[in-house]
Amino acid sequence: MRSPLSLIAPAFAVALLLPAATSLVHGPYELQHWFETRHERTKSAEGPRLTPSLVIDTFQDLLHNDLGFWHGTGENLTLQHEPGSMRLFPTHPDQNFHTQFNAYGCFSLLPWQDHFLHVVFEGNEDFTVSLNENNAECSPNRAPFPGVPDSVQASRYVMRTREESSDDGTDDWDEGFKLVQQPEMKKPPPTNNSYRDDVHDDNGQAPAYSERTELFIPLSHFRINQHRVVSVSFSGFYTKEPILIHRVEFVSNIPAPSPSNNQFTIPEKLPTGQLVLRCSRPNSFAFGIDDGQPQYAQDVMRILDEEDVRATFFAVAAGLRDSSTNFTTFYQEMLKKGHQVALHSNTHPRMEGLPTLGQIDQEIVQSMLTMRDELGIDCTSIFPHHVGMTLTKDPNSLILPPPFGTVGARMRQQLAQHIRNPYIVNWSVDVEDWLWANTSTPEKQLEAFYRDIARGGNLAVMHFLDPTTVAYLPQFIRHVRDAGLHIMRVDQCLEDPNSPNL
Ligand SMILES: *[C@@H]1O[C@H](CO)[C@@H](O)[C@H](O)[C@H]1NC(C)=O
Ligand SMILES: *[C@@H]1O[C@H](CO)[C@@H](O)[C@H](O)[C@H]1NC(C)=O
Ligand SMILES: *[C@@H]1O[C@H](CO)[C@@H](O)[C@H](O)[C@H]1NC(C)=O
Ligand SMILES: *[C@@H]1O[C@H](CO)[C@@H](O)[C@H](O)[C@H]1NC(C)=O
Ligand SMILES: *[C@@H]1O[C@H](CO)[C@@H](O)[C@H](O)[C@H]1NC(C)=O
Ligand SMILES: [Zn+2]
Repeated sequence: MRSPLSLIAPAFAVALLLPAATSLVHGPYELQHWFETRHERTKSAEGPRLTPSLVIDTFQDLLHNDLGFWHGTGENLTLQHEPGSMRLFPTHPDQNFHTQFNAYGCFSLLPWQDHFLHVVFEGNEDFTVSLNENNAECSPNRAPFPGVPDSVQASRYVMRTREESSDDGTDDWDEGFKLVQQPEMKKPPPTNNSYRDDVHDDNGQAPAYSERTELFIPLSHFRINQHRVVSVSFSGFYTKEPILIHRVEFVSNIPAPSPSNNQFTIPEKLPTGQLVLRCSRPNSFAFGIDDGQPQYAQDVMRILDEEDVRATFFAVAAGLRDSSTNFTTFYQEMLKKGHQVALHSNTHPRMEGLPTLGQIDQEIVQSMLTMRDELGIDCTSIFPHHVGMTLTKDPNSLILPPPFGTVGARMRQQLAQHIRNPYIVNWSVDVEDWLWANTSTPEKQLEAFYRDIARGGNLAVMHFLDPTTVAYLPQFIRHVRDAGLHIMRVDQCLEDPNSPNL
């Protein structure tokens, strides 16, 4: 079952669209006037780079960044703004904060491809940093919505600098930084969607900083389409401490390792798997069928038989081990019929929100063991991801749809440690059964399905939790066929070399 992430997708889209009404439309290369040449603290060996730094956000404005575009949350994340900083009060791994490069569209990172994403912040380091990528059409009316093909774990890239005495700021952002310093992180306010403006309630003077925390992340560590970037985002929070962000920018150089910064160097890029939102095979379509209710399983099987369609099932391991569900027998039969059965975690938590890597590992290890023991799908590796996972015959090629669509850097890294280049399956067609199945208008599931296909989506996610969703399955299938698409398993639609021939 998913929902919160999907629930916010429309909100995110609205948020993306809002600034469009008030901003000029900018193309990818029309931001030159925003560039700011910045005094470099350290010259690289080759001398200064050609592309100057790009200041993205110094949080001078409540709703807009330094590029003139929207920043904020499309979700249920409490924010507190004062000129020069934005404080986030995360409570949930699905929450996120975006600062955009454009009103809505695609921004090209090409001029900065050798640069570093630099973030000056205080507080919680337990989050994921992402560059969100738009769809191929750079359009809000196409599927999928902007997604996160790759992300990094913030805490791996933190540089801590001891501050000496501080008044010789040679560097513009030093000053900005000092202006907004806060004595301590405040307790999170009650969570709602509002901005808080009661931030000046500290009862003392701010002590001088003794330590500055910054992130330096090479843009090359984000494996994304460089031409279709929408925003920088912070998400995947796995603790609830506030985060105070002062500055987001691209810089061409990083400080040299020194005793004052604990000999900081950039960590190696960890593998993070491949996030999949669409089928790659031309004219293909795939149904990813998540967890469901045992009593509807036979109906799903009968419909797929009648329609002669093969699909991919994402099975929760705990359900397989529970013999009262009959799921093991069911999935064994589905495997014989040529369907694919793939991983969907052990207990279906939001894996990225689990506090320890050990817990994320357990979700993956236990689900792999269960897949082997119950279904004979053998994995020699361990995958620590929680969202959703699909196993192909090749244990090195694991497909995983994350429960709730919650995808963060730790989950991805852990997964990729155990499975070489895993697929992490998201979707571009959402039946929205989680939204409409139990309402007086269940037919909205059909509308959602048709809408996403009209937008170009070809990888669907659905559950068999509700009889209405199952009852619509034949109509979904017919609609896909009428659109001229060929229905197949997820591994086949991804052209996985280990997938069975069509
Ligand atoms: C917002 O967060 C609060 C507290 O975490 C939660 O109770 C509420 O359901 C959330 N609302 C939405 C729309 O996600
Ligand atoms: C997964 O897909 C949904 C719907 O397109 C999108 O809102 C979400 O951002 C995607 N998740 C990631 C990690 O890309
Ligand atoms: C959110 O918090 C603000 C300030 O505390 C309050 O005025 C407002 O009513 C709250 N909104 C909701 C939906 O709880
Ligand atoms: C369990 O699943 C098998 C295989 O699909 C099926 O033949 C059998 O009828 C199911 N049993 C129950 C009680 O649903
Ligand atoms: C609809 O409600 C039933 C009963 O509360 C629940 O078991 C089922 O999971 C719900 N369906 C969906 C799709 O949320
Ligand atoms: Zn699920």
